[in-house]
Order: sequence, then structure tokens, then C-alpha cells
Amino acid sequence: MTSAAAPDLADFPFPLTGDAYRYTANLQPGGQRQETAAGAWGENITRVGPDYADLIAERARILRADPGRVITDPALRAAEWDTVRYLMRRMAAEYPAGFRYTETGGVARWANYLLGLATDFTPGDPRTLPCGPLEFIGRQVVEDLVLLDEREGHLWADAGLVTFASGWSFPFVVGSSFQEIHGPVPRANADGVFARAEAFLLRLPLGQAYRRVNWAFQPLRVLDHSMDAAASWMPEAARFLATATEADIAEHVHLRVELQHLIRLETSGAVLFLIDTRFLSLAGLARVPAWAARVMAVLTDLPDDIAEYKGLRDLRPLIIDCLRRRTE
Ligand code: HEM
Repeated sequence: MTSAAAPDLADFPFPLTGDAYRYTANLQPGGQRQETAAGAWGENITRVGPDYADLIAERARILRADPGRVITDPALRAAEWDTVRYLMRRMAAEYPAGFRYTETGGVARWANYLLGLATDFTPGDPRTLPCGPLEFIGRQVVEDLVLLDEREGHLWADAGLVTFASGWSFPFVVGSSFQEIHGPVPRANADGVFARAEAFLLRLPLGQAYRRVNWAFQPLRVLDHSMDAAASWMPEAARFLATATEADIAEHVHLRVELQHLIRLETSGAVLFLIDTRFLSLAGLARVPAWAARVMAVLTDLPDDIAEYKGLRDLRPLIIDCLRRRTE
């Protein structure tokens, strides 16, 4: 399977590591290669793939329609500049053919060859960029960005640029604490998952990156699956499910995986939360029998409250049935 796999399978971060799934912090160091049944992923922290230009264009379209998806806070200005520097350095190191970053005598030089951009600017001086620093870099990465400030021994999501949220609203969440944000997640609060995760993040040494993967299923491949855009995707999904054939289900129902990185930024000490969103259709899953088998096992075992929270009540039997037919 490895060498013959199509690119979307070969580097897909398949998230399920056992036949049963419960909420855990599932944190591991960033930048580590992870083998899968179809290839490997994880050596880079940023992602620049064949869909880079499309994702950048989709983000620009969403920001034109709803500029409120970028939210900044004067208290996090230093963290915004840390984010610019961290991501530009990282992209230049991980994709040298696409990007270049140098800094000499207080002046930074950034080239994004993929978008045809070349800029000189002075880190720390917002007058040297065409827009705020977080927006400037956010429009050139495919990941959603959230900045968390440490205050009173807790983390607060006070700034960010989020266009591809899955079932939540960044403008609604902004200003909330890590614990408040995770209030709706069933079981995990009672199990102490979020208290332990927050304590871990508060102890993270400066400059270090950790990662976790999260997953869901969607009836249609919609990147902006936020509550802000629900008036568009919710009725569309209901119409689809009312008439979908087995072939439609296989083609359009997707596993949505979020590869999330948490980075303690060097100078400000803020936590940068990066979310890279990937999709794989059920037809694609069925091409890797080990993945299809694992999804069927996990969905069969999944307790109802977790399935309900993940929006799987109607989809679960359709997914299991489709994968079973295609792998039998
Ligand atoms: C160690 C760090 C983290 C852990 C262990 C964690 C864990 C989780 C888990 C288990 C869920 C439920 C997901 C599902 O069933 O699909 C969730 C949801 C969510 N997480 Fe996190 N998360 C972390 C960091 C963050 C950060 C930094 C943010 C910042 C914005 C965030 C925002 C959210 C949001 C908005 C949801 C959806 C909540 C809702 O239903 O309204 N997470 N997280």
C-alpha cells in the first residue's frame, strides 16, 4: 500500500490508534514521524501541500464575507509577532523551495514564492506590514490560529484567525478560558482530561511544540463548518442525507481530521494553537482496509453521548454500512 498510495492517503494523519475511542489529552511531541497503514505523516509542524493555494483562496473568501473571523487583543501584540517569526522560520525550514526568511539588523525579509509575495518589515513595528501581524501570517498559512494568554494561572483564548472551525464559533469563544471552552465536551471534564491538559500546557518550556489529533465525520466536505456558517451547511447536509444513495455516501461523507499543534512561543510565553484540517472520503478510507476496519470497530463501540456530541447519531449506521459493503 505504501508506495502505490495516492498522496491524500500517503500522508493522511489517520487518528485512531485502537479499536475503542474515549477522550484523552493524547498529546505527543511535535515534528515526529508517525507511520500508518498507508504511509507516514508528522515530520513537519506546518503543512504546505498541493492544496495550499486553494486553501489560502478559501480563507481569503471567508475573510471577505466575514472579517470578524480575525480577532486581536493589544495585550497579545508581542505574541502576534512571535507567531509571525515562528511560522515564517518554520515554513522556510520545512519548505525551502516555497519560502525564505532572513532577519538582519532588525529588518526581516520574507519571500513566499508560492503566492508571489516578497516583503521587508521590522518585527515589532505594525506600520511596516499592510495589516496586523496575525492577519498577515494567517493569510499565508492553511492552519487556523488561536493565541492563548496565561493569566491567573490559566490560559485564555484571547486572539486568533479561525476560518475552518468544526462545530464551534471563534467569535463566540474568544475571551474564554481553556476550561470554559471545553465545558460542552461530555465525560472529559469529569475525567479531569482538561485540567491535566491545561496544567501540561502551562508547564511547556518556551519554544516547544506538542501535537494531538482530533476527528469527526461530516456529511459533506465543508471546510467552514463553524456555527457562524451553520445557516449554509446545515440545511445543505440535511438535503443531502434525505436523498443520498450508497455511492453518494461513499463519495461525499468524509472523515475530518484536525492535526493540532500547541507551541509555547519564545519571547511572549503565549501558547499558539494551530489547527490543520484534513478530509478523507469513505471511498478513500475503504482503500485502506486496516483504516476501514478500525473506523467500523470504533464507531460500533462508541458510547451514545460521545457519538451524539460528535454529530454521529444519523451518520454512524450509514458509515458502518458503507465501509462494510466496500471492504467485504
Ligand atoms: C491539550 C490541549 C487540548 C486538548 C486535550 C483538547 C481536547 C479537546 C477534546 C477532546 C474535544 C472534543 C472533540 C470532539 O469530540 O470532537 C475538544 C473540543 C474543542 N476544543 Fe480542544 N483541546 C485542546 C486544546 C484546545 C485549545 C488550545 C483550544 C482553543 C481554542 C481548543 C478549542 C476547542 C473547541 C472550541 C472545541 C469544541 C467545543 C464545543 O463543543 O463547543 N482546544 N477539545
